Amino acid sequence: MATALCPGSFDPVTNGHLDIIERTSRHFDTVIVAVIRNPQKAQSLFTLEERQAMLAEVTAHLSNIRIEFFKGLLVDFAKDHGAAAIVKGLRAVSDFDYELQMAQMNQKLSGIDTFFISTSPQYSFLSSSLVREVARFGGDVSTLVPPAVAKRLEGRFGNADGAA
Ligand code: PNS
Repeated sequence: MATALCPGSFDPVTNGHLDIIERTSRHFDTVIVAVIRNPQKAQSLFTLEERQAMLAEVTAHLSNIRIEFFKGLLVDFAKDHGAAAIVKGLRAVSDFDYELQMAQMNQKLSGIDTFFISTSPQYSFLSSSLVREVARFGGDVSTLVPPAVAKRLEGRFGNADGAA
């Protein structure tokens, strides 16, 4: 039984994340969506529980997904959960340098390999931080995030004046 990790902050989960999670779920028996408890990112928009709830809702159609939190090194979490692989989406060349460095460090630390999936072209510009910014100032995020996430963003920011 091969388990893969899809790690990230997911603040919030986007259509790009969901695309990677869905595609990963076709190749592995179990996929753990590993949400980092991230003290250094003090400016999180959604709480961990909110992020978990959104992830659970948007992955409800996938039977082999679990959502868990981790802190510390990703590879320690991977070892504790018997994960054979880390899976990441690569959006553009700009992702590559840092992702390669992390993949090599994780391999060195643990022997766990990272597999890269090319982001679907329609999502190559998409990031949680841009989604937060667009939503904050009242832009339309309905094609960028699943409906459940768009609703939460609307609830958080209300109308187009950007007042949080
Ligand atoms: O969605 P993000 O914020 O780009 O996700 C980054 C994440 C959580 C995947 C990355 O920061 C990570 O793996 N952090 C865990 C700490 C760790 O293991 N650091 C060493 C990596 S070489």
